[in-house]
Amino acid sequence: MSHRITLIPGDGIGPEVMKATVRVLEATGVKFEWETFMAGAEAFERYREYIPKELIQSIERTRVGLKGPVTTPIGGGFSSINVELRKRFELFANFRPVRNLPHIPTRYPDIDLIVVRENTEGLYSGIEHEVVPGVVESLKIITEKASTRISRFAFEYARKHGRKKIHCIHKANIMKMSDGLFLRCSRSVSKEYPEITYGEHIVDNTCMQLVMNPYQYDMLLLENLYGDIVSDLCAGLVGGLGLVPGANFGHECAIFEAVHGSAPDIAGKNIANPTAVLRSALLMLRHIDEPEAALKIRNALEKVYRTRDKLTRDVGGKAGTSEFADAVIEEMQNTNSEPAAAAGVPTQKV
Ligand code: NAI
Repeated sequence: MSHRITLIPGDGIGPEVMKATVRVLEATGVKFEWETFMAGAEAFERYREYIPKELIQSIERTRVGLKGPVTTPIGGGFSSINVELRKRFELFANFRPVRNLPHIPTRYPDIDLIVVRENTEGLYSGIEHEVVPGVVESLKIITEKASTRISRFAFEYARKHGRKKIHCIHKANIMKMSDGLFLRCSRSVSKEYPEITYGEHIVDNTCMQLVMNPYQYDMLLLENLYGDIVSDLCAGLVGGLGLVPGANFGHECAIFEAVHGSAPDIAGKNIANPTAVLRSALLMLRHIDEPEAALKIRNALEKVYRTRDKLTRDVGGKAGTSEFADAVIEEMQNTNSEPAAAAGVPTQKV
């Protein structure tokens, strides 16, 4: 059987890290039929559409996307393609597991955090206007429906996967109505899950706490903007943005993408780390019921990190993006017969 997947290479480092990832995925022996589409500025140049309708139709058909980063112009220009796709397909849950890889020096070993971010509203609703010259208003939309839905997603995940604690992260001391509603919804859902310890922390304090003692947290539940910022902070705890995967889940479909952006500072140089996209692809493999292939890649990936001589620059090595992918593929071929490790790739079906 072959899996049809919508592939969005993205721009900046996107095409490099996606090419490396696709090579590794294909080396598992699982069969894929990729439906590949541009998005963003490149797509506009060619099709006069930032998100071509063929791309939308493809996701409607395949229901699974693997996406590279897409550049969003700063302070003007078109709206974020990422935000548009999340809203268009109601990909309400942004799921970001944060774990160390072997032998990557970090301030803390054995980090195991899950960040769950509401993905469809908050300040990312993008409703802004100039009231009078020199005064701009930006609306933060928080609804009971979306807040309850994301809270339930987090608690259901915790219940299914034996997680112990969820902290709802907010700023309801200042944004009493909007964050207050988010908080009330998560508090109310938490009552249905008495086996999971529920806590609440203010977002600025949370950033400090994460840097001082990340082990006090297990899962973090956040509205959109705080989730975006705090997940980059969490990536820093385990070695940087080149390592941390992500997934966007809706009821109908899912799009898998790394936490990082298009990294224009290193694009086109074959030095970007494809690990984050590769780990996002592992989440995808679990989602499409290919857990063996996911474990194969995970074991090979960990071996390459343990051996250390084929790592990319961001984690202290000298290898290029493609060389790193070659090493993972070679490791997979060498270790085919070894038993697969039992844990580490979260499953998340919605
Ligand atoms: P960024 O994540 O692209 O880069 C931040 C820093 O991390 C840079 O120094 C970069 O070199 C490094 N980095 C990121 N990924 C790396 C990798 N795989 N290997 C090695 N180093 C890596 O964030 P930035 O610069 O704030 O954003 C650049 C563009 O990306 C913006 O247009 C932004 O809107 C877009 N973006 C897109 C996302 C998406 O498509 N999901 C997510 C985040 C940002």
